[in-house]
Amino acid sequence: MSNLTPSTRTAETIDRLRHIARVYAPAVLASSFSVEDMILLDMIARHGLEIGIVTIDTGRLPEETHRLIARVRERYGLPISVLMPSTSDVEAFVAAHGPNAFYDDLILRQECCDLRKVRPLRRALAGKLAWITGRRREQALTRHHLMLAEWDAAHRLRKFNPLAEWSGEEVWSYIRANQVPYSELYDRGYTSIGCAPCTRAIAPGEDIRSGRWWWEGAEHRECGLHVQRVAK
Ligand code: ADX
Ligand code: SF4
Repeated sequence: MSNLTPSTRTAETIDRLRHIARVYAPAVLASSFSVEDMILLDMIARHGLEIGIVTIDTGRLPEETHRLIARVRERYGLPISVLMPSTSDVEAFVAAHGPNAFYDDLILRQECCDLRKVRPLRRALAGKLAWITGRRREQALTRHHLMLAEWDAAHRLRKFNPLAEWSGEEVWSYIRANQVPYSELYDRGYTSIGCAPCTRAIAPGEDIRSGRWWWEGAEHRECGLHVQRVAK
């Protein structure tokens, strides 16, 4: 990781976003309203960058995320596309496996993520040249080799991770310095936030994403937006 001052790190990231907006339009930020995604949204708003904002409301998000979305709409006045899973997909899954089948086995968990997140995301990315995520290398074992730019073969477009090199400390110093709104859950011990039933607070010193699908092995803790699922 390079040793940059906060303002250099910020300027470098804004330049990256500017470049994406110019060369890869139409581009979208996929936001889960994590602190990382909030930094990118704040930069897009502050600098008037032509990058759309899209979020997937899985139907199982914590109320705190909905409250944050409302605050963000008020504060920034940016259009935010909220995509939801198909009703018939959810109904069929729940009828076959019950409402909380994700706790039962990995395949059912991935199935739930697939229909509640991955399929709506596919709709969000249709016709786009690039998408942007808030992933960082430090977040997980599965992200140690994260690139700043990738080719997303599954969706056939560019995928950018402009915060790949940011440390947790840099993230929080940007949030505080710019008074960026963030989810109340971070103040209650959460370090990564997804759906309510699949996310919990962690103890100090634990891995950042260990509160996500905590009943599974660390190598599986991705939702399918960013990795291929294991074979059936
Ligand atoms: S993930 O496994 O749920 O994808 P994480 O919460 O660390 O992991 O999110 C990583 C990135 O995936 C986010 O920065 C964001 O770009 C995208 N993402 C995750 N969840 C959503 C969501 N519900 N809507 C839109 N983008 C999302
Ligand atoms: Fe389903 Fe949990 Fe994945 Fe949300 S995180 S889509 S509830 S398995």
